[in-house]
Amino acid sequence: MTAKKSTEMSVFGVDVLEGLSSTPKHLSSRYFYDDEGSRLFMEIMKLPEYYLTKAEFRIFSEQTREIFESFTSGADSIDLIELGAGDGVKTAVLIRYFLERGLNFNYSPIDISQQANDALTSRFHSEFPSLTINPHTGDYFKILGSLKDGSDRRKVVMFLGSNIGNFHRDSAINFFRELRQSLSEQDRVFVGFDMQKDPRVILSAYDDPTGVTAKFNLNLLTRINRELGGTFDTSKFSHYAHYRPIECAARSFLISRERQTVTIEAIDRTFLFEQWEPIFMEISQKYTRTMIEEMAGDSGFEIEADFFDGVNFYNNSLWRPKGHAA
Ligand SMILES: C[S@@+](CC[C@H](N)C(=O)[O-])C[C@H]1O[C@@H](n2cnc3c(N)ncnc32)[C@H](O)[C@@H]1O
Repeated sequence: MTAKKSTEMSVFGVDVLEGLSSTPKHLSSRYFYDDEGSRLFMEIMKLPEYYLTKAEFRIFSEQTREIFESFTSGADSIDLIELGAGDGVKTAVLIRYFLERGLNFNYSPIDISQQANDALTSRFHSEFPSLTINPHTGDYFKILGSLKDGSDRRKVVMFLGSNIGNFHRDSAINFFRELRQSLSEQDRVFVGFDMQKDPRVILSAYDDPTGVTAKFNLNLLTRINRELGGTFDTSKFSHYAHYRPIECAARSFLISRERQTVTIEAIDRTFLFEQWEPIFMEISQKYTRTMIEEMAGDSGFEIEADFFDGVNFYNNSLWRPKGHAA
């Protein structure tokens, strides 16, 4: 590849080139979410095996008042910002309650999928006509800096769905540190963490029998075909997931079912896949309370409040900047 070519390449192309040239091969899960990926993820959330959404929904429904009180303790108005808002079904529970309580707040959902953002905005407009909503379509990594806008209202930044579990630990810490730089002392972060539990329960959430999770993973190959001129035949790859209890992490892979080559025009490369060779797709980290506390501390935050579901499957953790209790 010439230097000129590399400067012309999209970031997506550069990442795919780096991932498929590595040993073992990998693709970044941040590219799962084109409009189709975002739609498939909404299907995953409805699967009986995908306990995460149900557990977080239960926390929001059963502890709405406590969440409201913790968000507004020491603040009479807030900017509610949601990173990767998706369909906002859980957030709607909080919004309804906040409006009923007459809270002065506005809601800014940020999602990389235009389709997801449009659907959420039109639903919330009709469900909550009095809500001030400022949707933003884009990459939440890129908008972190713009959160520092000088507004004197408390910002509560929500990062739900255990989306943080898709980051390796160092990336998660860097992400939260960057977020901390954009926040002031009165602001809060509200993060959804999937907890360590029976490994069989965890694995079933990433390996559903109806194959929606497989479609979700394979969709990234289809996206490479469409956006980068790839020649992946998705029928020649299959989805595989495992959970390692010592690391508390589920991982998913696409496995090449036969020896094959795939060409990707935009990066001017042909890749060889041996039979049964894996492409590492995604990590889904699970947590203990100690891991969450350490992650908050290492990122410049401390835990202000914990919200667990009834069976400790899931934790929504409210963080404040370290050393700034209200
Ligand atoms: C794991 S889902 C979580 C959805 C929702 N927060 C929930 O808990 O149900 C991730 C969502 O984040 C969006 N997303 C993924 N990566 C993103 C990025 N880098 N910037 C903005 N949104 C992103 C996806 O489109 C998707 O809607």
